[in-house]
Amino acid sequence: MSQPSLPRLGFIGAGRLARCLALSFSRAGYPVTAVASRTAASASRLASQIEYCAAFDDPQQVVDAADIVFLAVPDDSIGTSAHTLRFAADAASGPHGKALVHCSGASPVELLAPARDQGASIGGFHPLYLFSGDLADIDRIAGCSVTIEADGALKDALTALAVALRCHPLSIPAGGRMLYHAAAHYAASFALCSLAECVALWRTLGFAEDDALRALLPMLSGTIETARDKGLPNALAGPVSRGDTGVVEKQLALLEGLGGDHAALYGLLSRRAVGLAERGANPPAAIEAIAEAVEESLNRSLNQAAAGASVK
Ligand SMILES: NC(=O)c1ccc[n+]([C@@H]2O[C@H](COP(=O)([O-])OP(=O)(O)OC[C@H]3O[C@@H](n4cnc5c(N)ncnc54)[C@H](OP(=O)(O)O)[C@@H]3O)[C@@H](O)[C@H]2O)c1
Repeated sequence: MSQPSLPRLGFIGAGRLARCLALSFSRAGYPVTAVASRTAASASRLASQIEYCAAFDDPQQVVDAADIVFLAVPDDSIGTSAHTLRFAADAASGPHGKALVHCSGASPVELLAPARDQGASIGGFHPLYLFSGDLADIDRIAGCSVTIEADGALKDALTALAVALRCHPLSIPAGGRMLYHAAAHYAASFALCSLAECVALWRTLGFAEDDALRALLPMLSGTIETARDKGLPNALAGPVSRGDTGVVEKQLALLEGLGGDHAALYGLLSRRAVGLAERGANPPAAIEAIAEAVEESLNRSLNQAAAGASVK
């Protein structure tokens, strides 16, 4: 019995994400047949690195030369690009049918509705990875997750593509992308914001940013490793996990004294730490007292922030 053929893949957009996906899919044995971009130079640069891949000036030619077309353009261009593409009347037929897929975590798949209205399948394929645009992305993406929103045969095809990248497929219900993407910031840019808060507070002690980061980054790496090994509740360290009510109270008071929103941020994160400690194998006996101290401080600091906002 002959093997079912693999879908031909095309890319509209040849930026950081497209470079990694197109080269990775090609290395995994998928036919990547067509690339177009805003500038011909970008498309040619990417196509020249892939065997049997053509660079086109017109994105429509990618639709004609591929079964699954990845619209790898900036989010603000997804809707307008989707509107310009034409799918043949038999778009749903053939061994694979035609599909238009975008790679954004936040934008709705519904932006691709013009393609669906012409008979093509539509979907979302969002790698949870920060693409640098360098070739190193190709190896580093292994082990990441790819969040897929699609139905039927397209869902199966996108799942197989995620596995070909050695990634974990993750399924998301329609309409869930904005919340999903907002929440994912906590594992990426908001982790950086937490580090920035520490650097800012340590600066008042005379610590230089470079020294602070040299001290903090290994601790963050260790925390990630422990979370991987033990799960979030049992990886929790610090005064909340130990039941050190006095330390928590003194730190909240100190930060309230600094003004600004330092105590509010610390209080909100401590509230989450209380929740994690309660889920741990050995919640400290003092957890209720700590929760009370955190809520009292939050009342003061959030009221103060609200009063500040109302006089502006
Ligand atoms: N970067 C990430 O870490 C990451 C992670 C997950 C998902 N994503 C998603 O992946 C998508 C692409 O992001 P990216 O980071 O790869 O962006 P990028 O590096 O800025 O690349 C965008 C590409 O799209 C091309 N382009 C722009 N407007 C176009 C248009 N109207 N028609 C055709 N091509 C156009 C650009 O063309 P030229 O090169 O010719 O100027 C460029 O090649 C976005 O939806 C983003 O949310 C990105």
